[in-house]
Amino acid sequence: MSSLRDLQGRTWAIIGASSGLARAYAHTVAVRGASVILIGRDTDDLARTAVDLQVRYGIQATVDSCDLSDRDGVALLVQRLKPVAAEGRLDLFFAAGVMPAQSAIEADPKRAAEVIEVNLTAPMTLLLGLAPAWEAAGSGTVVVVGSVAGDRGRLGNHVYGATKAGLATFTAGLRNRLGRSGVHVLTVKPGFLDTAMTWGLPGVGFAADPAVVSGTILAAALNRVDVAYVPWIWWGIMTIIAHVPEAIFKRLKI
Ligand SMILES: NC(=O)c1ccc[n+]([C@@H]2O[C@H](COP(=O)([O-])OP(=O)(O)OC[C@H]3O[C@@H](n4cnc5c(N)ncnc54)[C@H](OP(=O)(O)O)[C@@H]3O)[C@@H](O)[C@H]2O)c1
Repeated sequence: MSSLRDLQGRTWAIIGASSGLARAYAHTVAVRGASVILIGRDTDDLARTAVDLQVRYGIQATVDSCDLSDRDGVALLVQRLKPVAAEGRLDLFFAAGVMPAQSAIEADPKRAAEVIEVNLTAPMTLLLGLAPAWEAAGSGTVVVVGSVAGDRGRLGNHVYGATKAGLATFTAGLRNRLGRSGVHVLTVKPGFLDTAMTWGLPGVGFAADPAVVSGTILAAALNRVDVAYVPWIWWGIMTIIAHVPEAIFKRLKI
């Protein structure tokens, strides 16, 4: 067990806790003494993770159920988390996301709404709901996982990318709002990660290890970085991609 228990007294609510990245992040904060609330749909699976974290790190780990496509359910989750935020103990890691194939959405355009619901409506509802409690308490760290896919609309991924672009815009404004009360908001933009989301996709052989990326994210959050590309090389890649003239970019089949 790490001797650095500097997160004792903090409670990290981890939304989408069954995700490859979120599971790694739960270990990253738990080893430093934080309590965790693992939030997601498969509560049996999350309960096994909670026991593992308790046994390994001697921390408090609980499970909460929420389907992010259920708006009433998200509103109820806000009510359950509010007291912890009001006590000034709540930090939040929003990792949930869905990325159906662009071709599947084009075949059934109604599916675009599902992607928006989970990737954008749910985090907005949740974070706007908790914001007043964080403001009143004057303490908290919010980490929202976006994507480099939000930096430029691509042929192969522009519905998912649009939700991540919206999330980046939303979190920038929320950072401005909550920063006035001492609450920090970090927007994370991962490149390819080795998780279920990218499993079997072509061209992601160099996907990053979520455990390594999680450490980078926590360090960025504690250092009050505003926007973190992870791994950092994606900042350079996306800077180049952002500067490709649209007249050329629109012809690329990526
Ligand atoms: N993997 C990458 O290369 C990559 C790159 C850039 C950004 N990201 C972002 O990183 C974050 C974490 O993704 P990951 O790579 O760790 O993928 P993942 O393992 O597929 O995790 C996705 C998570 O979202 C949850 N989720 C989906 N729909 C939900 C719903 N309706 N209600 C509640 N939870 C729901 C899933 O829960 P269930 O287990 O219940 O389905 C799962 O925990 C996502 O926001 C993703 O967009 C990933």
